Amino acid sequence: MRTQVAIVGAGPAGLMLGRILERAGIDAIILERRSADYVLGRVRAGVLEQGSIELMDAVGIGQRMHREGLVHHGVELSLDGDPHRLDFQHLIGRHVMVYGQTEITHDLMDARAASGARTVYEAEDVGLLDFDGEHPRVEYRKDGVTHRIECDFIAGCDGYHGISRASVPLGALETFERVYPFGWLGVLVDQPPVAHELIYAHHERGFALCSMRSPTRSRYYAQVPAAERVEAWSDDRFWDELRARLNPQTAAALKTGASIEKSIALLRSFVAEPLRFGRLFLAGDAAHIVPPTGAKGLNLALSDVRVLGAALVEFYGERSVAGIDAYSATALKRIWKAERFSWWMTSLLHVFPETGAFGRRIQRAEFDYLVGSRVAQQSLAENYTGLLD
Ligand code: FAD
Ligand code: DHB
Repeated sequence: MRTQVAIVGAGPAGLMLGRILERAGIDAIILERRSADYVLGRVRAGVLEQGSIELMDAVGIGQRMHREGLVHHGVELSLDGDPHRLDFQHLIGRHVMVYGQTEITHDLMDARAASGARTVYEAEDVGLLDFDGEHPRVEYRKDGVTHRIECDFIAGCDGYHGISRASVPLGALETFERVYPFGWLGVLVDQPPVAHELIYAHHERGFALCSMRSPTRSRYYAQVPAAERVEAWSDDRFWDELRARLNPQTAAALKTGASIEKSIALLRSFVAEPLRFGRLFLAGDAAHIVPPTGAKGLNLALSDVRVLGAALVEFYGERSVAGIDAYSATALKRIWKAERFSWWMTSLLHVFPETGAFGRRIQRAEFDYLVGSRVAQQSLAENYTGLLD
């Protein structure tokens, strides 16, 4: 088999890159280890930056998002029960959209199926070969048969645990990492959200987040120690803990119910540099992880492939290598800004056992500064709604 671009991974990065290339008439095959249903069953991110909304529109799949997505003009931050609303619209004239990663994946998969573009689900033992030369190849097994794809480029969009980054020779990569001593316990429930906007709450018992997927489906998170097991958390225990971390009016308004999904995600900051090795490019979680506090993971995956997609379109359209040569540096600039913001939001809002009373006073001072300074609020709003480059 032959294609122009072999894409490994059918998460948001791989599917969006496939869509960008398909619209430019560039042939691509996506190889995905899991089934389509498995990919759609993962509950992950929920907030789209304005640039991600624009990208969905630009590739012609924004219709359902505009119908069903919820435009949010602000968020509430609260420290020890002391709430403060940030009005993004008022501060910087921008907004975000609540539209789940599952829905974006769905829209991209539907568009891909309608176009007839090739996706191989349940592709086993994907291997990346010869990407340091002119003729890269990808091999995989399906139903016991080994297949080979010859291509011009490989896009490694296979997430943090994927094979792409692991295929790069040791020594060619530099990695930067911080692992946090806690995770987020997330619960999805078919109940109306407790508030119209998201609430990020810091409490001495730990961080809590009230989010949503629709007017009738809510998503809640609570900080838990990294070693915590999800089986230790009955629904009742989760709701009691969440209420204890919210201010009393919010806690009283919380509508609880049986969870339809419950999982723990560990928090990590991670960047691998560079993002290009010959004819292999890394994009999305394959290259970097942010702690979820700034709602940046999905948005970064989309902005990486926006840059990579444009570079490949330029290569095939104009035979220019300028875009692909610049991809790594261009994407890393944005990645590090998102890493910084995600680390900062995480530092402000979580309980860090090791920093003690001094750390808590610093968090209080940071929050008071934010509440008193329009400039600080504008900075948060600008980062949260998405930097322009
Ligand atoms: P992924 O979505 O991970 O997609 C990679 C794809 O590659 C997967 O479908 C995988 O099955 C496939 N794959 C892996 N290995 C191979 C292989 N060897 N061969 C072929 N295919 C392979 N972000 C937020 O902003 N907010 C959140 O609340 C949030 N929650 C999260 C919860 C969890 C448990 C995780 C893991 C992430 C969460 N994120 C969150 C981050 C966000 O979901 C990711 O940043 C986003 O999914 C990145 O998209 P991606 O396409 O780069 O990677
Ligand atoms: C959601 C996840 C986040 O990480 C975040 O910062 C906001 C919302 C969510 O899953 O809804």
